[in-house]
Amino acid sequence: MAEIIAGLATSHVPAIGAALDNGKAETPYWKPVFEGYKASQDYLKALKPDVVILVYNDHASAFSLEIIPTFALGCAAEFAPADEGWGPRPVPVVKGHPELAWHIAQSVILDEFDLTIVNKMDVDHGLTVPLSLLFGQVQEWPCPVIPLAVNVVQYPPPTGHRCFMLGKAIRKAVDSFEKPLRVAIVGTGGMSHQLQGPRAGLINKAFDTAFLDNLSADPQKLVAMPHLDYMREAGSEGIELVMWLIMRGAMDDHVREVRRFYHVPASNTAVGHIILENN
Ligand SMILES: [Fe+2]
Repeated sequence: MAEIIAGLATSHVPAIGAALDNGKAETPYWKPVFEGYKASQDYLKALKPDVVILVYNDHASAFSLEIIPTFALGCAAEFAPADEGWGPRPVPVVKGHPELAWHIAQSVILDEFDLTIVNKMDVDHGLTVPLSLLFGQVQEWPCPVIPLAVNVVQYPPPTGHRCFMLGKAIRKAVDSFEKPLRVAIVGTGGMSHQLQGPRAGLINKAFDTAFLDNLSADPQKLVAMPHLDYMREAGSEGIELVMWLIMRGAMDDHVREVRRFYHVPASNTAVGHIILENN
């Protein structure tokens, strides 16, 4: 049977991808960010997951305001890096895992989560920046990746509770897949940031730290948090953090925190990263 062997979360700041792609990773501004992920890259090299399920949001690259799926699961064999206005990032094409993805779709939809099934989708920085941070600059991504795109751009986004329960449904789907795949699940986005309006540039370290603490030890506190609290405390784009709860829902109730990293600033965002394992 397949199993979930680790849950990770990380910010997906677009400027991180640009820094890497333009050879700025060693500059004083960016070096501390990339240093913070080195141990995680070593961790993943040793862990060798067979598949990654990566929860992220599309930033008007694959979808526009014409169609806004709340949860969209990528079931294709591959996903090209999206052109976000400067040409596609020079990173490998993402290979999917259609067999597991369709199994997840079947299991989760029959569990009454109405996923959108996507058979063609370009993937933007929301997906490729986490892959770069976790796997480095590589010729090929080391394993297939199943994208799960969540709407956190156009209100109303799903609640944290809904995301957490979807994570549980994904866990059930993975656990019932008959092949012995070792699966890592990654939640992305966040942490506190606001891109526009009078509070643009907002960072809330106290909120972010409490979020990381609770994600590890007491996720029910986060599951109950309303959207307004995210907006007030973490800024308008801090709502991306609900995606971390999909990862957390797919893990055991009690987990072991393997490592965390928190750094301000990266662009106008607080970068946060955590790795959890089931006990
Ligand atoms: Fe984002």
